[in-house]
Amino acid sequence: MEKIDLKSLENKVRKKIEKAESLKELDTIFKEVFGKDGEVKKISKIIPKLPKKQRKIFGEKFGKMKESLMEEFEKKAKELKEKAEKEVEEKEWIDITIPPPKAPIGHYHPITLARRKIEEIFQSMGFEVVEGPEIEDEWHNFDALNIPPDHPARDVLSLGKTFYLKSGGLMRSHTSSVQIRYMEKNSPPLRIIVPGRVFRLDAIDASHEIDFWQLEGLMVGKDISVANFKAIIEEFLKRFFEKEVKIRLRPSFFPFTEPSFEVDISCVLCNGKGCQVCKNSGWLECGGAGMVHPNVYKNCKLNPKEWQGFAFGFGMNRLVMLKYKIPDIRLFNSGDLRFLHQF
Ligand code: DAH
Repeated sequence: MEKIDLKSLENKVRKKIEKAESLKELDTIFKEVFGKDGEVKKISKIIPKLPKKQRKIFGEKFGKMKESLMEEFEKKAKELKEKAEKEVEEKEWIDITIPPPKAPIGHYHPITLARRKIEEIFQSMGFEVVEGPEIEDEWHNFDALNIPPDHPARDVLSLGKTFYLKSGGLMRSHTSSVQIRYMEKNSPPLRIIVPGRVFRLDAIDASHEIDFWQLEGLMVGKDISVANFKAIIEEFLKRFFEKEVKIRLRPSFFPFTEPSFEVDISCVLCNGKGCQVCKNSGWLECGGAGMVHPNVYKNCKLNPKEWQGFAFGFGMNRLVMLKYKIPDIRLFNSGDLRFLHQF
């Protein structure tokens, strides 16, 4: 009969329990002791073979040892479980008071901002905001505007720098085409503005683009005069630039207006005193205008004896550049976020 040293077995197991660092490890130790082939099982098999007297004493001791080891396992298991829970808690702790990372905020393009402002001003003066197609036909872009194919104005106005499409049609070279589209469908009295993209084959530089914006306007009624034009444009410019702006009309020529004029505005940067931008003249070119030509009415099946009115076409990029002090027209289409983020 081999001698069984319960004390040293117990100590050995206790030490192992103490060293266990995880529930898994503890479970392995438990199986080693209480499992099917564990030490305890081995001992229990021996007990019935002991002499009766010894069996009782040994059995009691053995029972106590098992109980105390069991307790030890349970204690350790509880401890390790708490430790594991605490670790998870610490790892997964979320501070709900920390402000979230800022979502990047988009910016409106300066053309969009200006367009909204322009629309608001003209709408308050009874104008309707109208759009037309960017892909046009010869009739609306030229012929109906009193510019027949061989007319020198096509070159003079650089309207000849038109992009023609293989599929027929063209990219509109000015927003004046929308005057025709509108008057073909609506009879006067009418007041419209058309902010829109136009396209011209040009050499791109700081002040020339091939894809830019125009602001077209048209007001037709029974007795609309140049005086109405002046008053409305002055009011518009004052509200757009948020300061008093003078205008100057110079005689000019456009096939679709008679009389025609160039519109200059007092320099909004130096207030007319003279600076680099206005080349010391105190004036800035803003666009063309005039009284709608009788042929234009006729082409829209309107009676030129019955109706009269003014039209204008301003360079919208120019207005926006002056308002926000943008030095180079190429910035508008650059997609440069450093530019866009400023608005
Ligand atoms: N369409 C002209 C251009 O692009 C600008 C213009 C001039 C428009 C006079 C008008 C106008 O409506 O009356 O050069």
